This record gives sequence, structure tokens and C-alpha cells, in this order.
Amino acid sequence: MNQAALHRLLASKSQMKKGESSYEALFDQRLATNLSLIKTLFFSLYQEPNHEAYFHDLLDQLEVQFSERPNELKKQDLERLNFGNWYQSEKLVGMQLYVDRFNKDINGLKEKLTYFEDLGINFLHLMPITTRPAGENDGGYAVSSYHEIDPRYGTKENFLVMAQEARQKNMFLMLDFVVNHTSDEFRWAKKAKAGELKYQNYYYIYSDRTIPNEFEKTLPEIFPQSAPGNFTYNEKMEKWVMTCFNTYQWDLNYRNPAVFIEMLGNLMSLANLGVDVVRFDALAFLWKKLGTLSQNLPEAHTLIALFRMCLQVIAPGVILLAEAIVAPRNILKYFGENILEGNECEIAYNASLMALLWNSIATKETSLMLKSLTNIPSKPNDATWINYIRCHDDIGLGYDDDFVKSMGWDPGMHKQFILNYYCGRLEWSPAKGLMFMYNPKNGDGRITGSTASLLGLETALEQKNKNIIDYAVTKILMMYGIVLTYGGIPMIYAGDEIGTLNDYSYEQNEDHKNDNRWVNRPVQNWKVISELASKVDSPSAAIYNGLKKMIGLRKSLSVFKDSNDIKIHGCPNPHIFIFQRSNETESVWILTNFNEVTETLDISWLLSIGIFTGSDSIDLLTGESFELVHNALPLKPYQQMWIKNL
Ligand code: GLC
Repeated sequence: MNQAALHRLLASKSQMKKGESSYEALFDQRLATNLSLIKTLFFSLYQEPNHEAYFHDLLDQLEVQFSERPNELKKQDLERLNFGNWYQSEKLVGMQLYVDRFNKDINGLKEKLTYFEDLGINFLHLMPITTRPAGENDGGYAVSSYHEIDPRYGTKENFLVMAQEARQKNMFLMLDFVVNHTSDEFRWAKKAKAGELKYQNYYYIYSDRTIPNEFEKTLPEIFPQSAPGNFTYNEKMEKWVMTCFNTYQWDLNYRNPAVFIEMLGNLMSLANLGVDVVRFDALAFLWKKLGTLSQNLPEAHTLIALFRMCLQVIAPGVILLAEAIVAPRNILKYFGENILEGNECEIAYNASLMALLWNSIATKETSLMLKSLTNIPSKPNDATWINYIRCHDDIGLGYDDDFVKSMGWDPGMHKQFILNYYCGRLEWSPAKGLMFMYNPKNGDGRITGSTASLLGLETALEQKNKNIIDYAVTKILMMYGIVLTYGGIPMIYAGDEIGTLNDYSYEQNEDHKNDNRWVNRPVQNWKVISELASKVDSPSAAIYNGLKKMIGLRKSLSVFKDSNDIKIHGCPNPHIFIFQRSNETESVWILTNFNEVTETLDISWLLSIGIFTGSDSIDLLTGESFELVHNALPLKPYQQMWIKNL
């Protein structure tokens, strides 16, 4: 039983006893429930004798932040507690977007809430909207404030009105908390540059290269091409500052408890804006230690749990998403382990599934995906995934070398093949992607590009080949079909719903040209959207309508609620991926052919996994039962079926 379950229990008990309990009483009760855990976590990072005053500051901070939480949100917190794990519902379908690129600003976004409703989207991930340096700013992930809205996006008032309208439409909001670093123009960084030691201690700052050199022995490089190394020399301070990401993103020093306490305040003010899910950006990097990779360290987990336990006291309806794009086994740890199980993040990106899906497209086989997914321990029951195929970042090829070897493939050569397939180095590949951050030192590279271009739509349109266009559209829908049915919250990247191609205009933009992730950060094409109804045969309309239909189906079937029920079947045909979703009353099987030719499945095998055949089952996508040919079920190239027994 995690702490959230305790809060649920206590809330229902006190409601029964006293009817409507006062919010203050609830605060006391929540604090009492989490206090000993908060104390243990805090003093395990910051040793007790010297840090008691900070602990008192922390408790004061909790009280202040609670008093600032609007009553409407306090009421909502209580409703959420009563509702249970709302984030596991089949009714949730998300979209991720840059507010400015979507429709200019926050008001522009508000005008488009009906667009989301039409498609069936009710969960929005809005990427950073707070102030940032002019020029290069990593799409706002270099934050100059955690709560001041950048005037280009509008005002706080605009945000609150939009958030309220979204709430009235039963939509959920997710915002980023860039917890690992600030921009070099953040208030603390400015004071550090001006020589204030107090603020230099908010970052990892060194007068000479001794410690940086030690760190460099083990720290990997995140952006080896555009920002090699992990330290940047600041001429004003005449000192070196740790910058694991870009040179203008300064890593926060959480060894200093003052940093934790201030960042907790920043987190709370984000929650108090009416955000439902907080995306903990780059949280694997939170703790740095000489002689290590400084990723996924146990102290980072302690820190995240500490944030979580404090947030729960103030806003138990607000939950956390782990942006940990790390090895599969390490991702699971962000749900919390042992005593912390269920007490870190409720949601994590399913980066493993995402990378494996792209592998299956390139190899046309599903064996590596099967092997990898069935060998990862399952997640805790209260946790869920964000399932996605593309986002604003690159695709990292984080496959487990041992699993790759077990396929009979050499891991290095396999990675090269995938990079070649997606980055225009194989003549026969329809994919049009770009190589991101190729590191000649170790042959590592990642991939960027839009879903549609990576799946061949750009090439097909250039060739004006109707068949290939249809294949690309089918591939896009089948990839999203998996995202929509695999347990968790599906997240559609804005633009994908209309098959947006790569946007090469970033090459002409001084602030973007060094970062080709911008090839997949397009401006939403409202002209195409306005023509969807009149051009029903266009690829955009086919994708939009196909997605809309699948979203509707997902929401109508309670079997798609995430109850940790997924069963992946070891399929005798290596090109077909099959998983089963079940609840107490029904099952749905999702079958997907990753090959460019028709593949078949034998009737006896289908029966062995529980699928009835003939007129006893239907494919929910067509609404019809399916025909067997010579006692086998044929799946056309890239075809997907959602089969349900009648
Ligand atoms: C996350 C973001 C990415 C950003 C990085 C640094 O990984 O998704 O876009 O560059 O954090 O903030």
C-alpha cells in the first residue's frame, strides 16, 4: 500500500465521520501521514545535526503553499482521492504540443479546445511557457522562471482562464517542471555571475578544472556535437559551471538543501496554477557524484520521493510523470522501489516500447520487441505509462545488448543498421529522418524526424505513388493503434494526427540550426485541418479520421483501462506482434503485422491463445468477423486487428 492509498483511506474515513471535513484538518492529516517519511528522506540526503533549521523551513513552506492553493483545486484534490487512480482510465487520451507553434499563444490554444474535443483528446501536455533567454533556449527548457509566463505566450490570467475552461471540459493539463537545471539568466544564475557565493552554491561551480576533469572521466555527453563536455567556462565568474545539457543550462546543486526547498516552492506554485500532472524533466540527472555516470543514482530517487511526499501533502490530486529516457530496468525504478514503491512518480514514459516499435518497423520483425518486453519486470499496479511513438526529442536506440545478441545480431552493427535505415543511408528505405548527435568516438547516434516522414509518407508523396502513400498511412495508424491500446495513457504528438512531414525550415533559423530536433517541431497546419472535411481522400484526412475512430473505440471499452493486465503472446510468426488486454469480463487481442507482405497465423494457435474464429469474434476496427484462408488468418501488410470474442 503506497502513501496515496493511505491518503485515500483517511479521506474517506474522515468524510464518513464528520461529513465535509475542513481543508485545514485535511492538511494536518496529510502531513501527519507523510511526515515521518519526509523526515527520513530529508535527513538521508542532508545529515541531521546541521540541517534541522532547513527541515523547519521545509515544514513552514508546506503550510504556506497549502494556504495559497485555491479552494477549487483543494476540492478537486479530494474528488480525485475519492476517484482512485484516475490516470489509469481508458478515457484519457493525450496530445503534446508547443503552445506557440500550435496556435500562437495561450488564448489561441483556448480557441482550439474544441479541436481536441473533436478528435477525442482530453489531456494536454503544454511544453514550457515560462520566461526563457532570447535566442537559443532549448525550446523553453532553459527556464528563466518557473512561474512567470513568457509574454509571447500571454499572461498568468490568460493561463488561469484557459486552465479553468479546460477543467470545465473535463480536460487534464500537464506542464513541465525543469527540475535539473535553470537557464544562465535565471535569478540565481545572475547572482552567481555577479559573484554571490550563496548562489554559486546553488550550482556546481568550480574555480579550476580539477574537479570538472574528474567528473569528465565518467560523465557521458548528452549533446556531443553542439555542447561537448559537461562544464562551461563563465568569464564573468572566471569559473567553471556544470552544464550537462546545453552550455546555457546550469545544473542545480541538490546537495545544497536550500536548493531543494526553493525548488519545492517552485513545484508547488506550478501545481497551484491548476496543473494535474507535472512532467519531471530530465529527473535521472538530479544527483551528481564523482566517479559515476551521475544518472539514476539512489540519491536522485530519494530526492524525487521527497518532492512527491511533500506535493502529496498539499495537492494529492496532482501527480508526477518521470521523463527518464533510460534503460528499461532503470525506468521502472522511477515508480519507486521497496518502501518507496508507488511513492515516486505515478507515470513514466514507455521509452522502451517506443524504441522497440521503431526497431520493428526497420527490421520488419517483432522478436526483439517480444524478447525485451517480456523480460522486463512488470510495473507496480498503481503506476502507468505514457505510450507514444514520437515527441519533440530524438529517438534513442536504448536496446538491451544481451537481447540484441540473443537475436543473433551484433549490437554495434544492429545500431548502425537502424541509424542507416532511418537516416537516408539505405536506398531502399522509405524513411526520411536525420541523424541526431552522432558521436564518432563511440558510433552512437540518435534519430529525429516526424512520424509521417520516418514511416515513409514524405518519400511516398514525392514519388506520387498511391500504393506507397496508402502503406505509409496504414503504418502511421497501426503504430498509433498500439499506443492507443497498450496499457497506459496514449500521447499523440501534435501534427501527427494529420501526418505532418519533416519541417526543414529550422536550418534557416539561427536559434535552431544547431539542433535538428527542430525538424519535428512544426507549426500546426490549420489550413490542412480546415480542409479535412472536403478532402476526405487525402492522407491527412485518412490519418485524422482513422485516429479519431480508434480513440473513440478505446474510450468505449473499459478493457483498455490500465489494470496492469497486459499479456504479450510469443507469436510463432516473427513478423506479427500480439498482445491481449483483459478485465474480469472480456478480452481484446491486438494483432499487428510489421511486414510489407501478407503474413498468416494458424487457426489452432489463435484458438490456443483464446481467440474464437469464424463468426464467433469480430475485428473492432472493421466491425466485421474475419475470413480464414486455408485455416489461417491472413494479415495484410501493416494490418492491425483489434479482435474481440462475441
Ligand atoms: C528533456 C527535454 C528535452 C530537453 C532536456 C533538457 O529531455 O525533453 O527537450 O532538451 O530535457 O532540458
